[in-house]
Amino acid sequence: MTSTFINIFGATGNLARRKLIPALYDLHCKGQLSTDLKITGVAPGEMTTPEFRDLVRESEASLNQWADFADRINYVQADVTSPEDMVRAWQVIAELTPEQEPGRVNCLHYLALRPDLYAPAVTALASAGMTGNGPGWRRIVIEKPFGSDGRTARDLNEHLHKHLDEDQVYRIDHYLGKETVQNLLVFRFANSIFEPIWNRNYIDSVEITVDEEDMVGDRGEYYDGSGVLRDMFQSHLLQLMTLVAMDPPHSYEADALRNEKVKVLSAVRRPSLREIEEHLVIGQYEGYHYEPGVAPGSQTPTFAALRLFIDNWRWQGVPFHLRSGKGLPAKNTEMIINFRSPPHMLFPVPDDGDIPGNQLLIRIQPDEGVGLEFQSKVPGAGLRMRPVNLEFSYDAGFNDVEIPDAYERLLLDALAGDASLFTRSDEIELAWSIIDPITDRLDLPGAPTPYRYLPGTQGPQTP
Ligand code: BG6
Repeated sequence: MTSTFINIFGATGNLARRKLIPALYDLHCKGQLSTDLKITGVAPGEMTTPEFRDLVRESEASLNQWADFADRINYVQADVTSPEDMVRAWQVIAELTPEQEPGRVNCLHYLALRPDLYAPAVTALASAGMTGNGPGWRRIVIEKPFGSDGRTARDLNEHLHKHLDEDQVYRIDHYLGKETVQNLLVFRFANSIFEPIWNRNYIDSVEITVDEEDMVGDRGEYYDGSGVLRDMFQSHLLQLMTLVAMDPPHSYEADALRNEKVKVLSAVRRPSLREIEEHLVIGQYEGYHYEPGVAPGSQTPTFAALRLFIDNWRWQGVPFHLRSGKGLPAKNTEMIINFRSPPHMLFPVPDDGDIPGNQLLIRIQPDEGVGLEFQSKVPGAGLRMRPVNLEFSYDAGFNDVEIPDAYERLLLDALAGDASLFTRSDEIELAWSIIDPITDRLDLPGAPTPYRYLPGTQGPQTP
């Protein structure tokens, strides 16, 4: 049987320890990893394999299962930017399966590294012969942020394409691995009742919210150069927007899905300077300056609310309200589809205003589920109405099934060669071309400064 390696570069960092190893451990416990799969942790620190296993040990792991899982793990001390070190790492990996020719083993190289190391790491891997598809396959997983603007993303794509084919590159946006995000496509395209009304004739506006209670924590240095627009909008929020807005793809297959997403991103109106003034609100939580790694006097936004429009037949004139921030009252990711009010109301309208249109609420996390709000007659005399809810919750609907972590799904897909839930080079570049004019404007002298908000409050008023 051909062996498969997951080689985690940056294996002693937070991502590897908090996300990748736990996801692999869970997959191991569920019996979803093939028996010949091995994990190599690669990092520059001096450490033995038993020490590395201890370092990444899951605190809640059962003794037996962990021992079994830990047998899959090895550690190689190497600098991923050094071609000589990569040649040595490749030899160590090859020695782990002496019965097989190195060219026959499959390798998923996971770059859990600082973004400035992606390009040199790929050069070093390529020069050590670790990127060419042989009889065994070679794939590279790259974490976000993919570039810090359109130009750097394009440069990185060009660099990758010098050494790899596009179908060897798996660019992660972990939101696409979330069960409820995938369910959005099932909800839209496995039910026939929504598609006929999923357009400007019936939908008044769309809200996409990714609120976080957490603050910047120990990521100040990265975050301060990035801010919420690059960290969250360019990736997660625009990806969610493409899934809500795209046309039905002809199949659930990587290119068909990604082609439809690209059409949406191409049709998003690039905001003019005037629109940026009118459609953007930015904020920064009080005390952000004291976070380690944050520059004194930094104007980096930790909150933004942005209104975007999609210039096509389906969505012309429908505002998409995107909002995300840190230091807000609670973690809450949701999408609200606001439908239009009925064109003519037969029933008495309350003195305090209109009867609102129906609202479809898709809760991504937590309390995963879907709710539909509609008007109902209050029992008793008269025709008084009040909104009521039709509710589906994952807890009640699938009470025997645990929702897997996004990384579990994405690791399995990358191992299986299914790129549907990964972003293609053109998608990333188009997403930057929407965010770049906004961040460019904020970098100019005289740019709007962020409103201050207290951690734990709702953030600034949104447009
Ligand atoms: C990451 C961002 O991509 O997503 C973080 O860099 C953010 O700033 C995180 O906190 C949110 O992910 P999740 O899965 O916790 O919603």
